[in-house]
Amino acid sequence: MVTPIRSVPATSASTPSAPASLLTAAPAARELPITRGHIPDLTRDPFRCMRALYRAHGNIAALEETDGQRVIFIFGPHYNQEVLSDTETYHARFFSLRGSRNSAQRRLTAALLSMNGDEHKTQRRIVQGPFQKRAVEGYRDQLALLAEDMVAGWQAGQERDLFRDLTRFMQRVSGRVLLGVDEPELIEHIGDLTERWVAMNHELGLGAVVPHKKMDSYYDCLLDMAEELEAEIRTLIDRRREMPPGMDVTSLLLQARERADSGVTDTELIGQTAILFAAGYLTTANTLAWTSFLLAQHPEITTALVAELRRELDGRAPTLADFPRLPMLDHVIKESMRILPASFYSQRINPEPVQLGPFYLIRGTPIVFSQYITHHMPDLFPDPERFLPERWQTIAPSPYAYLPFGAGARLCMGAPMALITLKITLAVMLQRFTFHLLPGSEINGRVTSTMFAPASGIPVRIATPETPWQLKPVTGSIHEMVTLD
Ligand code: HEM
Repeated sequence: MVTPIRSVPATSASTPSAPASLLTAAPAARELPITRGHIPDLTRDPFRCMRALYRAHGNIAALEETDGQRVIFIFGPHYNQEVLSDTETYHARFFSLRGSRNSAQRRLTAALLSMNGDEHKTQRRIVQGPFQKRAVEGYRDQLALLAEDMVAGWQAGQERDLFRDLTRFMQRVSGRVLLGVDEPELIEHIGDLTERWVAMNHELGLGAVVPHKKMDSYYDCLLDMAEELEAEIRTLIDRRREMPPGMDVTSLLLQARERADSGVTDTELIGQTAILFAAGYLTTANTLAWTSFLLAQHPEITTALVAELRRELDGRAPTLADFPRLPMLDHVIKESMRILPASFYSQRINPEPVQLGPFYLIRGTPIVFSQYITHHMPDLFPDPERFLPERWQTIAPSPYAYLPFGAGARLCMGAPMALITLKITLAVMLQRFTFHLLPGSEINGRVTSTMFAPASGIPVRIATPETPWQLKPVTGSIHEMVTLD
């Protein structure tokens, strides 16, 4: 039974023009922190939806449909810890419809992100090899070569979409290092299909909770996309099967598949391969793009960072032993992942009824937590909208206050790999080139299936660290998320 609501302010939570009094009003004593609205608003504009809920209610809030269905939102370290540290009470829930048995959609979503309990533990153990410290250290040379290769295609004065370049680069890195296949055309094609499929999953993600007007036609479309993507993933797996075994994820899954007791079926082989590829390249490409954008808008920080890199590395790519001598690189990445986190929010669901803060949750209530909102709380990070890498010289936030890679038992498995990829790539790029935003560029953030990307790309002119800086103001929704001056 759901706790009865006392009086609830009726607001359209995601509408930026909603009356300010409603969006900022604190709930009266004994009122539950509920905003009436439309759950699909979360899909359409997660940023404004969550910001309005946080401003109206604080650290816990519900968005409620007229029929009483609710999504609960938690913000800040207290509730993050309560929910993320308890994997029995709160299960992970993938942002997609699972699809019917024997469908490509069902196979593609049979991945760690949608698993719980023993199944999750077993599958995590099987694929964790390539993510462990020693394996990750072994990727340094490949990463450095691929980054050098990308940069070799750039020239000062060229206009480029940095986001596109970095996305292609990360597809290639993930294809080679994670999947063990270096066929750029096949990998790019799988990348393009993945992005279309992820976007359609996003459209329908909440269709499982509330009916979506275009549900039927969108669902058919999703199933077609899933079939097309699955066919290419199978091609990739076949290519990998023809090669000698290695330590990449595809090879490990193929080896496990051979053992009858491994728990890896054809379904998991497809799902794990597809989702690890997507989880690996999309988030890292977004982080590289947002970091490059922030640096392009902060010339003094870029100049100091380039000086550190050139002094310590003298033009070469860093090894892992160099990292402790590159504190500014570390602080820039930490601050970029705080202020514009590639994973904007994520979700849990309670398999049994539970009391969470003031809410009694019926079984199966979606619970959303947000890295973005937590990372922008002024009591945790003073002056939160400013890009201030130097703050990391003095702060050490708790794992539930700063959580770009999640927290608790489901902490991102790829975090060490992502961090060395970010450090090596930025060090190679920035020793040779800096980036000047093109005049009049519009920079908009878009959240798709929890991931936060520059929707209209990052259009830049390639420059060198010696080129006189031309700081061009940009337009777009980015100004609601970060202070640029
Ligand atoms: C900057 C890059 C990355 C970011 C920001 C990021 C972020 C995250 C976050 C926030 C979670 C937790 C989601 C939740 O609790 O619901 C997560 C989980 C996960 N990430 Fe990443 N990730 C990144 C890179 C990678 C890479 C390179 C891989 C490797 C393929 C990867 C694989 C995974 C996997 C498998 C999980 C699920 C872990 C589990 O449920 O046991 N991620 N990631």
